[in-house]
Amino acid sequence: MFSIDVIVEGLGKWCDVILVFAVAFCFYLPNIWISTIVLLTLLAIRAFYSYNEWYKRPKNRLLYKIGDSDVALVTGGSHGLGLELVKQLLVQGVSRVYVIDVSAPEVDDPRVFYYSCDVGQEADLKRTIATIIRTLTDENKNISILINNAGVRNNGALLHISDKKIHDIFNINTFSQIWILRAVLSHHIDNILPKNPSKRLSVVSLSSVLGSLAPKNLSVYSATKAAIYSIHESLIQEVSHLPQIRILLVAPGQLTTTMFSDVKPSKAFLAPLVDHSDLARRIVDKIDTGDTGVVAYPFYANFLPAIRVLPMSIQQMCRWFSEMDEKVGDDKS
Ligand SMILES: *[C@@H]1O[C@H](CO)[C@@H](O)[C@H](O)[C@H]1NC(C)=O
Ligand SMILES: *[C@@H]1O[C@H](CO)[C@@H](O)[C@H](O)[C@H]1NC(C)=O
Repeated sequence: MFSIDVIVEGLGKWCDVILVFAVAFCFYLPNIWISTIVLLTLLAIRAFYSYNEWYKRPKNRLLYKIGDSDVALVTGGSHGLGLELVKQLLVQGVSRVYVIDVSAPEVDDPRVFYYSCDVGQEADLKRTIATIIRTLTDENKNISILINNAGVRNNGALLHISDKKIHDIFNINTFSQIWILRAVLSHHIDNILPKNPSKRLSVVSLSSVLGSLAPKNLSVYSATKAAIYSIHESLIQEVSHLPQIRILLVAPGQLTTTMFSDVKPSKAFLAPLVDHSDLARRIVDKIDTGDTGVVAYPFYANFLPAIRVLPMSIQQMCRWFSEMDEKVGDDKS
């Protein structure tokens, strides 16, 4: 489908060719000062872009390449984006993938180990994580890729959702990520790094564009995703002295999974649906290069956090234009 993302991706791919033409064009500008200013601006933008790419990457990329020494843990890995992530990791040759979910993944691969667990049940979840870490330690292996992906959605006006539903969704979408992060990161820092200082740990947390702009009747879901943003930002600083730990936040727009399949997308040119297997491939690529930072797709998702700083009347106009507040019904349960 044709969208602004197709254009942006094309520009990205050809950016150096376009730059050469733009530089050549500068010599035809009528005034030497204008030429110089345009030329320097273009080169400065290009140089900054490269610097930023370099900045997000580890200084020794070979240490971070996905391979057969990697063991991954994926929550919610039995369907949708989680299942695609599991498949992509297997394609990249990881030695094992642990899947935590309420139903088993439909993949036929001896490298997949399934643990049945509702991540919203704190005690069960903590027990399952401890079991996985213990099993791995006994075999002298360790988790090197952690993907906190499990999540559920619920609709409803804040005043109509039941207390139980609010607790449930926070437990699944937010608290589960916190418990897993704490268990896996502290095990890695206290037990793995002292013996094996170059052992990497890639952490991926699934948030959503709705974490930076909440639609009507989706307040609680959006809040669970906004919390993931904050944890990501602060955690990067908390472990910044450990370059072995790579932290990625994923903030996708509407995916082609079933979770939001009842929501009819609008403005497909600006906000195309994100193909979830394509997104899984991009995430696994970022794990492979060892990037730290935010992966936001599609293109518009990179700018959503900026809407909040606009004047209220303009924010309201953006919301009206996107029709975002007319999409989600009120389940009244
Ligand atoms: C972590 O796993 C690697 C194999 O990938 C192993 O060489 C190393 O000893 C393990 N470290 C610990 C502390 O178990
Ligand atoms: C959102 O909830 C309100 C309050 O219950 C309801 O009146 C409205 O119709 C809902 N929005 C949509 C798009 O269904």
